[in-house]
Amino acid sequence: MTNVHEREKNLYLERTRRSAEIFHKARQLTPYGVHSNYKYVEPHPLYCAKGKGSKIWDVDGNEYVDFNMAFGALVVGHAHPTIIEAIRERIENGTLLGFECEDAHKLAELICRRFNVEMVKFSSTGLEGTAHAIRFARAYTGRKKILKFEGCYHGSHDGLLVSVKPSKQKAGDPKLPNQVPASQGIPEEITSNTLVAPFNDLEAIEAVMKRNGEETAAIILEPIPMNMGFITPSPGFLEGLRELANEYSSLLIFDEIKTCGKFYHGAAGYFRVQPDLSVMSKAISGGYPLSVIAGRKPIMEKVAPGVVAHAGTFNANPLSITAAKVTLGKVLDENGFNQASRLGDDLARGCQDIIKDFGITARVQWLGISGAILFSREEVANWRSFLECDFGKWNAYYIAMLNRGIIPAGTGADEQWTISVQHSKDDVEAHLEVFKEVAPMLKRQELSMGVVEAV
Ligand SMILES: Cc1ncc(COP(=O)(O)O)c(C=O)c1O
Repeated sequence: MTNVHEREKNLYLERTRRSAEIFHKARQLTPYGVHSNYKYVEPHPLYCAKGKGSKIWDVDGNEYVDFNMAFGALVVGHAHPTIIEAIRERIENGTLLGFECEDAHKLAELICRRFNVEMVKFSSTGLEGTAHAIRFARAYTGRKKILKFEGCYHGSHDGLLVSVKPSKQKAGDPKLPNQVPASQGIPEEITSNTLVAPFNDLEAIEAVMKRNGEETAAIILEPIPMNMGFITPSPGFLEGLRELANEYSSLLIFDEIKTCGKFYHGAAGYFRVQPDLSVMSKAISGGYPLSVIAGRKPIMEKVAPGVVAHAGTFNANPLSITAAKVTLGKVLDENGFNQASRLGDDLARGCQDIIKDFGITARVQWLGISGAILFSREEVANWRSFLECDFGKWNAYYIAMLNRGIIPAGTGADEQWTISVQHSKDDVEAHLEVFKEVAPMLKRQELSMGVVEAV
C-alpha cells in the first residue's frame, strides 16, 4: 500500500534511470546536481537532451509536451526555425565583439515602441535587471528603502531575497509581514532596507508607506505574481500603487521579467498602468540571455560612467540582440499571442471542467497564455492564501503528469504553465487527457484524507 506520490515517484525512478545516473555523478561536483536551485526536483532532477516545437526529450528518450517552457522564457517554443536561421548567420560573424553591437540600438527602438518606454539599458539576466533597477531608483531618489511584496521573486540577489517564500511561522502578521531573509549569507543590514507588504492589500501597503514612504526609493512588484502560482491583481490595485508611489515621490517598478512575454505590450500595456521603471527578460529574447531595464528619461539619464554603475561583459551580446530582434520583430506578433491565448483559455477551462467532474478541491487561475492549478478551495490572492494550498497534492499531480508525458508547469507549486506560439490544439488535448487520468487518483487520495491508500 502506498500513496499516489510514492507510487508515481517509483514509476519516475523506473522511467528516468539515465537521469538518475547523471544526477549521481553531477552531485559529486555540483550541489544537488543542478545549476539553479529551482531545477531540482525529488527524487532527482530530469536531465534533458533536446527540445523542438512544443516538446522536449529527456536523456532516457522520454518525450514530453512541455508547458514549462523554460520557466516561461520560451513563448517562441523550442528551436524556432526563424530564430535558428538568424542565429546561425550571427554565429558566423562573431558572438562577442567587445564593442557595442550594431543592432543593439535597433532592438532598443523596437522595445521602446512596443512597450511604451523611454530609455533602456541591456543586461543578461533577470537578477541583474532588478539589481540595477533598484540601484537606479536609489540613485535617483537618494533614498535607501525598497518596498516589495511577500511571495514575489525578483532574482537571486541579496537586496530582494526577502520574504520570497517565508513559512507561516516566520512570516508574522499578515498585514505587516516580517522581513524574512530568503537565504543564509545575507547581511541583516541589507534585509532591513527591504520592506515587505501583502499583495492585493492597498490598506496594508498604505500603512507601511505612512511609516516609511519618505525613505522609500521604490515599490517593486510582479504585476501578476508568477512565483506563487498565478495571481492577478485585484481591480484598482495597480492604480492604487501608482497613486501611493506618486504621493510619496517613490518610484514604481514593474518586474515584468515573466509578464513582458505573456502579453503583446506586457502587463503595463495590458493593465494600462505606467511604472517609472520596468525590468523585462525571459521570453523577449527567444531563449537567449537578455534583460532590459527600461524607464523614464530623467531616471535613466542618471546612469553614467563614474556616477551610477551599469556594466556586464555579456551585456547586449550579438547573439542575444539578434535573437531578441527576431523574437519581437517576427515571432511574437499579436496574431501569435491571440492564438496562444485561445489555447490558454481552452486548457484552463478544460482543467476547470475536470476538477469539477471529479470533485477535486482545486481551482484554476489564469489569464491569456499562462495559468496554474492551485489545490485550494479559496481564491489565491497573495502569499498567505497561497500557503493554504495542498502542496502534497500538487507534488503527486506534477509527477503523475510527468510520468504520462506532460510537463504541466514549471518545477514547483509556485510555478505556472506557458503556452508558446508553437503549441497546438493537439497539445492542449493531450494535456487534458492526461489530467483526466490523473484526477481520479488525486480524488481518491483526497478522500483518504492523507491516509495511505492503494489506487
Ligand atoms: C519575476 C521574476 N523576476 C526575476 C527573476 C530572475 O530572473 P533570472 O533567473 O534570469 O535571474 C525571475 C526568474 O524566474 C522571475 O520570475
